[in-house]
Amino acid sequence: MAQNDVRIVEVGPRDGLQDESRYVPVETKLKLIHRLADCGIPVVEATSFVHPRWVPQLADAEELMAGLERRDGTRYPVLVPNERGYDRARAAGATEVAVFSAASEAFNQRNINCSIDESFERFRPVLERARQDGVRVRGYISCVLGCPYQGEVPIADVVRVAEALLEAGCAEISLGDTIGVGTAGKARTMLKAVLESVPAERLAVHYHDTYGQAIANILVSLELGLRTVDSSVAGIGGCPYARGATGNVATEDVVYLIEGLGLDTGVDLEALAEVGRWIAGTLGRQGSRAGSAIYNKKHAD
Ligand code: HMG
Ligand code: MG
Repeated sequence: MAQNDVRIVEVGPRDGLQDESRYVPVETKLKLIHRLADCGIPVVEATSFVHPRWVPQLADAEELMAGLERRDGTRYPVLVPNERGYDRARAAGATEVAVFSAASEAFNQRNINCSIDESFERFRPVLERARQDGVRVRGYISCVLGCPYQGEVPIADVVRVAEALLEAGCAEISLGDTIGVGTAGKARTMLKAVLESVPAERLAVHYHDTYGQAIANILVSLELGLRTVDSSVAGIGGCPYARGATGNVATEDVVYLIEGLGLDTGVDLEALAEVGRWIAGTLGRQGSRAGSAIYNKKHAD
């Protein structure tokens, strides 16, 4: 498969759906994943093996994995909070996982019921098992540009968690602006600090778009050499443990930005706009700016 200039990691089926209060049938989730893969997206995060009481929407993770039709060239990682989640994910056929922590103590307590240091103790055995099993692990860090509970997050805390995830064996670290409060200047300062410990090719950015700053933040990230961007189709989503935060930056907007820079994502943007229109309609959401413009132009012709 040709190497794309920028790798899109589509998190809509997981991050996008986890906060939907109305249950989305597993058939709809599978249709979404399959259609996203058909657009040429190389990585589609499929679901989470977290506690079903904490995230009821994704309680169907086993059923979803059983119905997954894997497309050649597409990877389907899943989120695991601990060893129990890892066992479930592996039993369900997952070959790639993501662990998660936060740069904020307060957020970690609410999200995974433990401190930052305790989270290291939880993900270390997962990383060890994954290494033995030949399973690739991504590590997420939430609240890298602000926390809904503690407010400011010191950059030193982001760097400390990034170093711990790297040292534990994560192949990639995704830096999450969970509540979408970051602006380009802050993103640049934070990234420069992290880049002193983690090379750009091991980093991804994960911007939520609450204040409409995600595209500017992505541009800054690309300028600093990062080449992996998380996004969710139609900008769906939010985090159940970060009230008020909207969805991730929309994949359609990101692909439009990147193509405009003359870089390749391998994603068929017109096909993606159709998927965005469909899932936004299904969930009663508005959809993305670029996606709607592309869809409307195509259907007006
Ligand atoms: P806990 O209650 O502290 O867990 O939850 P525990 O270890 O004390 O165990 C309690 C019970 O849960 C036990 O069962 C365990 O077996 C069971 P019991 O003995 O009482 O019958 N259990 C599990 N069951 C199923 N699957 C599991 C599992 N683990 C334990 N994996 C836990 C700790 C981490 C499980 C919980 O806090 C949790 O599931 N949290 C998930 C929160 C979450 O999913 N948040 C959203 C994802 S993160 C995010 O969106 C941010 C991101 O997008 C990046 C960004 O934007 O910043 C990634
Ligand atoms: Mg997120």
